[in-house]
Amino acid sequence: MKRALSKMAFFLIILFGLSLAVLVPIRHQEQEFQLASLRTAMSAVISMQATALEDGYFSWSELQDLINERKMIGADELLKPIYETYPFVQNISIQPGVPPAESYEIEGLNQSIYLIFSIKDDYGYSALPGWKAVIILDAQKIINSIHPGGNLVIDPLHGITLVNNIKVRFSTPFFSFVDYLIAAFASVALGYPLWMYLKKRTVYFYETKGLESIIFLFEQTEKSSANHSRRVAALALFLGKHLGFRGSKLRNLYTAALLHDIGKINIPSDILTKKGPLTAEEIQSMKMHPLISARILKNFKELAHLEKTVLYHHERMDGLGYPEGLHGKEIPLEARIIAVVDVFEALIGDRPYREPVDVLSAFEMLRSMPLDQEIVEVLAAHYHEFSAFQSPKWAVAYDPIGVV
Ligand SMILES: [Fe+2]
Ligand SMILES: [Fe+2]
Repeated sequence: MKRALSKMAFFLIILFGLSLAVLVPIRHQEQEFQLASLRTAMSAVISMQATALEDGYFSWSELQDLINERKMIGADELLKPIYETYPFVQNISIQPGVPPAESYEIEGLNQSIYLIFSIKDDYGYSALPGWKAVIILDAQKIINSIHPGGNLVIDPLHGITLVNNIKVRFSTPFFSFVDYLIAAFASVALGYPLWMYLKKRTVYFYETKGLESIIFLFEQTEKSSANHSRRVAALALFLGKHLGFRGSKLRNLYTAALLHDIGKINIPSDILTKKGPLTAEEIQSMKMHPLISARILKNFKELAHLEKTVLYHHERMDGLGYPEGLHGKEIPLEARIIAVVDVFEALIGDRPYREPVDVLSAFEMLRSMPLDQEIVEVLAAHYHEFSAFQSPKWAVAYDPIGVV
């Protein structure tokens, strides 16, 4: 039970991981989308600011004249209102240097965006040679204003390029709490049916290929009744159907019939194959086989529930059977069914030490035995249909039984 639980937990963890893995491309796509829209908005904001600054301040003959006359304090005074109008501006400076070829240039470095202007006259011409104006914008402030979620931070070392060499990364974890909830829900919702399916497949394996190999191994040791178990199982299946068994009940009857004599594996083969009458001691040893069959089945968790059926397949209605001497309906129905088909198969089947009994005589003999006669009559009434009976695909193969 503990092992099954830890297996189940492991299985759920794997599914949880897989569900998260499924979310990776979705979240990745989302991030890509966020970045793309931010890129467009950011470029627009920067260009708009640059154009407005160019028109408003750097195409201004008064400013140009002050700089030309080296009246830098006066020039700074003229530019001061920029700080109030443009909240992203961090610094304004007039510097000697080569003015940009175009009206302005944009450069990004670390946390800042540099807008570089030439200083022109009121008409936007005659850029002042040897001078430029540099305005530094706070890139993070722009990002925050466009992307109010606030999960994008500038990271010049490890970020993804946004615009103008400004690099950003997402500050929130890749998976949100909701993602973990989705993954947990998906792993349980998917995991339960999948777990049940896999479990069913394991049991199915036991009931088909697994059983086939157990029976094959059994027959290698116990050659005298090779094919007996397969035929008893086929007859039990046929009879069980006519008695109204369906689904797992029918399958259990079949499996128990297939394994009813598996305990013979423990009985010396010279006793099993002895042609003459058995000694009292040998009979005792032979009578152990239902107990051993039951004990073997008990050791397989997929088969343990069939223990009682195989244990009582030699019980008889008059209480003279073994191992417990149960009477009549004290014997489980499945064990009574197997008892009938077991004896029937033993009578009509080929045995090295005697000729098979014909079917009619076999039924006569069954009627005189302390078996469940209701079951005997159902078998007698329908046996003529047995040769046309199609075993389901999970049943193991068997050699045909002669029908008269
Ligand atoms: Fe038996
Ligand atoms: Fe048997």
